[in-house]
Amino acid sequence: MALIVARNRADLRKARGDGPVALVPTMGALHEGHRSLIRDARARAAQVVVSIFVNPLQFGPHEDFSRYPRTFEADLAVCEAEGADVVFAPSAEDMYAPDRQVSLHSGEMGRIVEGAARPGHFDGMLTVVLKLFNLVQPDLAVFGQKDAQQLAMIRRMVADLDLDIEIVGAPTVREPDGLALSSRNRYLSAADRQVALVLSRALRAGAAQAAAPKILGAARAVLDAAAPALDLDYLVLVDPSTFAEVGESYSGAAVLAVAARVGATRLIDNVVVSVGG
Ligand code: PAF
Repeated sequence: MALIVARNRADLRKARGDGPVALVPTMGALHEGHRSLIRDARARAAQVVVSIFVNPLQFGPHEDFSRYPRTFEADLAVCEAEGADVVFAPSAEDMYAPDRQVSLHSGEMGRIVEGAARPGHFDGMLTVVLKLFNLVQPDLAVFGQKDAQQLAMIRRMVADLDLDIEIVGAPTVREPDGLALSSRNRYLSAADRQVALVLSRALRAGAAQAAAPKILGAARAVLDAAAPALDLDYLVLVDPSTFAEVGESYSGAAVLAVAARVGATRLIDNVVVSVGG
């Protein structure tokens, strides 16, 4: 079946099929990581809807909203090649009424770690994801583990607001040298890219340790050695579902998450580690 491009909510309503629907929310600039999300969705549902919308609400005033890569024609080709049925690509005007009043509040969990670095980001992200859920009415939605706190916040929203949607977390896709795929990687110069490799190297060094202090210490040593070319924002070891930092004697699964600036580009990455065993 040919790919349907729905440019507004009326088109989307007409395109909706009967069987289980999987939604893959994206901001476009699709890469191999997104391809893997679409393939995962394809394997789970009768209809796959990919949304492409660069959501102004989740960008801070000094962030990269205006220069965020927009590659719509190439994105359509990716969706078609991966067997998506519908691309939902609304305009900002279609999504947000000018006199809009109500939006989501991501709570304390949205104010820590990535939320502390990007005030308001998770409020804007949850607001658009809830709107996409309401518009598409999917049975399931697929998100990448690359944005681990985003995934945890969406799971929290689904639980707190009693949404009947299965949330699937898909593994981070990496380049052969370890760099996690991200739409923002295209901002990196060749020299920046070499520095950016330190993020995944640090996470691997941390993951090779067992106790929480050693995990953090090993990762930090790798990151510190790359300063000042790599400007560390945070390195944390957190509970995967709450994103609260774990204590020194913690044991169980945890997320080792890092954010850093390389040149003008801010990158994030994470791995799930087994602490204390
Ligand atoms: O991960 C993203 O690309 C965005 O945060 C999302 C989930 C599409 C919401 O705008």
